Amino acid sequence: MATLILGIESSCDDTSAAVIRDRFLLSNVIAGQDVHRKYGGVVPELASRAHQQNIVPVVDSALKEAGVSRNEIDAVAFTRGPGLLGSLLVGTSFTKGFTAALGIPMIEVNHLQAHIMVHFIQSEISQAPTPRFPFLCLLVSGGHTQLVVVRDHHTMEIIGRTIDDAAGEAFDKCAKLLGLPYPGGPHVDRLAQEGDPLRFSFNKPRLEGFDYSFSGLKTSFLYFLRDRLKEDPEFIERNRTDLAASLQKTIIDILLNKLRRASKKTGIRQIALAGGVSANSGLRKAIGEESLKYGWELFVPPLSFTTDNAAMIAISGYYRYLGGLFSSDDIAPLARMYF
Ligand code: KG4
Ligand code: ZN
Repeated sequence: MATLILGIESSCDDTSAAVIRDRFLLSNVIAGQDVHRKYGGVVPELASRAHQQNIVPVVDSALKEAGVSRNEIDAVAFTRGPGLLGSLLVGTSFTKGFTAALGIPMIEVNHLQAHIMVHFIQSEISQAPTPRFPFLCLLVSGGHTQLVVVRDHHTMEIIGRTIDDAAGEAFDKCAKLLGLPYPGGPHVDRLAQEGDPLRFSFNKPRLEGFDYSFSGLKTSFLYFLRDRLKEDPEFIERNRTDLAASLQKTIIDILLNKLRRASKKTGIRQIALAGGVSANSGLRKAIGEESLKYGWELFVPPLSFTTDNAAMIAISGYYRYLGGLFSSDDIAPLARMYF
């Protein structure tokens, strides 16, 4: 018999609910939060208040869109962490109430592992083949940048991580310096499509192993702009597209350099991309070229599964359900959560 899982995501500034029947996605409703835009970043207290307002209507819409009644749901999967504690608490508390009322299990999900699990979702937009184990995933989001060896649906090993800023943070912070709205990643992407990626060059880190660092790039970008603005106060306006393209190329080069090395060292040539930054068109193109060059089998998620969504929580919940990995009802969310 088919299993129906309701997934709940509330780790940052998107309230999302999704329903999945086995691996097939029936709905994935996402309510963003515009309230943070004017502050240039996510304000945790405002995020948790917005989640409180959104969670019930979002779950309602997800059930309606899926054509499923709450009594048919077998279990609820929710993001336990990592994320903003006040935001995570809303999803966790909702899940506790919902599952207690229906007498069904709750299933904790690690948000970062869930980003990777999008590769197992089947839906009207994705019937692509799933990666076989082990595969190597470049996980690039607003808060994290990691190289992960995925051994099975639950066993994942981080072999490289950022020692400071995440790739998404580098996009967002540099975008802010260019006067672009938050989150800046998609704006840089759009501008970069019209610019010359070789026009300017910025510092790249020299780190051993598979770890990343992006804070040096941000500083190099800041000093570069400061110096040029002294000579020409209109420098940014005049060169916005070339600045965006050169910045984006630097970030992509840094990301792919370590990925290439990790693939070589581990011998794994099934490569997957995941997380919000995997929406970046330059990164998607560059990793495609890299795959052709090195004979990788590449898995790139559909755009709608790149940034935060509950479909990824629901699919993770489905596999945990099959493995009998349920959570007890005294579970607490974790701002920091490892795997
Ligand atoms: O995975 P995600 O939705 O949230 C976290 O778990 O952090 O990632 C959000 C990040 C933000 O930094 C955003 O700027 C970045 O993903 N992002 C992009 C693009 N779309 C989203 N960065 C570059 N290009 C994009 N097209
Ligand atoms: Zn995320």
